[in-house]
Amino acid sequence: MEKNTGIGRTLISKERLKRRVNDLGREISSDYKGLHPVIISVLRGGMYFLSDLTRAISIPIHVDTLAIGRYPEGQSFSGAVKITKDLDISITGRHVLIAEDIVDTGLTLAYLTRILKTHEPESLHVCALLNNPTRRFINLPLRYVGFAIPDVFVVGYGLDYKEDYRHIEYIAEYLSQ
Ligand code: IMP
Ligand code: MG
Repeated sequence: MEKNTGIGRTLISKERLKRRVNDLGREISSDYKGLHPVIISVLRGGMYFLSDLTRAISIPIHVDTLAIGRYPEGQSFSGAVKITKDLDISITGRHVLIAEDIVDTGLTLAYLTRILKTHEPESLHVCALLNNPTRRFINLPLRYVGFAIPDVFVVGYGLDYKEDYRHIEYIAEYLSQ
């Protein structure tokens, strides 16, 4: 594919992703047994992870998504975010697990947890597929982490560079040159 010239080395193969996501699903099934949790993910980066993770969970769950948009720079402080698609399921009094694609600075997650907490869930935890701790700005507890990655920009398995590469089946480093 001509547009895939920016893809560098494979960081996490399709097989490793599958194994780890299945393990996470088993762990979540055991920890949340009897709690009927709501698993929430952020579009569009989290869609493949949400899809595979929830299918690896063997207990009853509800699944929902929301979308977050960034305010254009200049309009607000850079990096400010807003909800562009809200949840459809009420999470008040529910056990909520956020399935995040990647936690980098932590700003998105901090915003998201602040918003979700206003709905007064019974519990709120995070399952991050990828953790890039190098650039962490706001530290929030991550109950589950798929993989810790080095400080590189990654694409694939939902993650994009300017909307490209989301559908790549593995996680690769993106090369800007
Ligand atoms: P944070 O707010 O810096 O923690 O990261 C926010 C969002 O930026 C993540 O949920 C991703 O959607 C995106 N992001 C961060 N790092 C990467 C990356 O390496 N590749 C693709 N998207 C990323
Ligand atoms: Mg994201």
